Formats: sequence, structure tokens, C-alpha cells
Amino acid sequence: VDLLAPKPGERILDLGCGDGALTAKLAAMGCDVVGVDGSAEQIGAARALGLNARVVDGQALDFDGEFDAVFSNAALHWMKDADAVIDGVWRALRSGGRFVGELGGFGCVDRIRTALHAALVRRSVDPVRVDPWYFPTPEDYGGRLAARGFVVRSCELIPRPTPLPTDVTGWLEVFAVAFTSPLPPTDRAPFLAEVQDALRPALCDADGRWTADYVRLRFAAERPCG
Ligand code: BEZ
Repeated sequence: VDLLAPKPGERILDLGCGDGALTAKLAAMGCDVVGVDGSAEQIGAARALGLNARVVDGQALDFDGEFDAVFSNAALHWMKDADAVIDGVWRALRSGGRFVGELGGFGCVDRIRTALHAALVRRSVDPVRVDPWYFPTPEDYGGRLAARGFVVRSCELIPRPTPLPTDVTGWLEVFAVAFTSPLPPTDRAPFLAEVQDALRPALCDADGRWTADYVRLRFAAERPCG
């Protein structure tokens, strides 16, 4: 939000707004905010906060030159067609509009992802087919922005080990559903236990506290005037 530097009265698209926590923050700063998210459940939660929010696939945005800025937090790594996202953001912005975001960056949850992949391979499931995440390098994402015509002001990786409020199974139950859903329901708990055991030496300390190996990619870009 600091990098976005929103001004009162600006019209802002919150791309992948989730339950609307940051959308509400932008609205409280005096912005005219529209939140979009692919999940009807999340949009229901955002609307319950009184926000203007709609179910929209971020890879198929159809806004036309109406936003001063597009903002996104912790959502773009779920959208594997990055060029489709960037095209839609470009069209949604007015000339001079900015695109500011943070997503999982290259190496994000690498240990968790490796353990998930290995456990699926042991069950003869192709992990690449089910893996829902896109964690780009700055060169990859910045290059795509520049190729579309954006002026890239900044684009950097930020390692951010993040303490978890639960064990890693709690995190996997929220974020790794795509890896468990191909398995028969009765196999899911043993699968998660196996992944947690594999991760314990790297991600759990002597007091039983778990930390996720997050890496963020943070960027700011501008659609030039003209
Ligand atoms: C996140 O919400 O930041 C996140 C979710 C899944 C994998 C990595 C990061």
C-alpha cells in the first residue's frame, strides 16, 4: 500500500482482493475501489464489508481505461497466464496509470513445494500438472511488463520467512488443496502428515514453531502517457 501511495478520490482496482481486507483499507483512505477475485466465497466476504466487489477471473479482465491504479497483493502467483493478466491490467488503466503489486517470487515456499511434489510422485501423481503456483523471477515478470509497454519503476525479490500460527499442516490445508484434491479423501491426511514430517527438520524449531519459506516479488510499473 505504501508503494502504491494511493490518493483520495483515485479509482483503484484491487486485483485478487480476497476477503477485502486491503480493499477496505484503500476505501478508508478515500479511494474509489473495485475489488475482483476468482472466488465467490471471498467476494461474499468482501461484500459483507460493504465493498464494491465482483467475481472476475484476473486472467480475463475486461475493464477499459477506467482506473488510476491496479493494485494486487498475494494473488498473482495463483494466475499462471501472467501475460493475460498483464494485458488486462494494461487495458484497465488510463494513460499514466500505475500497476503495483506483490506476489510470491522465485523460490517462494520452495521447501514446501519440493516436499509436496515428492509425496505426489510417490503416489504416481504428476505434480507439475496439479501445481497451481507461478513464482517468477524479477527478470521474468519485469520483462513481461516491459514487453507489454509498461515502464518498470521497481521489481525486486524480498525473502520473507513467515512464522505460521499453526503447524505446516494448517497452512497446507488452506493453500495446498490443489495438491491433495487428486487423492482419494482417505489418503489426504496421511499425505499431509508425510509432507509435514519431511519438512520438520527445515521449517520447525526446537519449540515446535513453524516458519514458511516465503519469498515475495514486489513491483511498481506505469502505463506511460500517450
Ligand atoms: C501467499 O498467500 O502468500 C501464498 C500462498 C501460497 C503459496 C505461497 C504464498
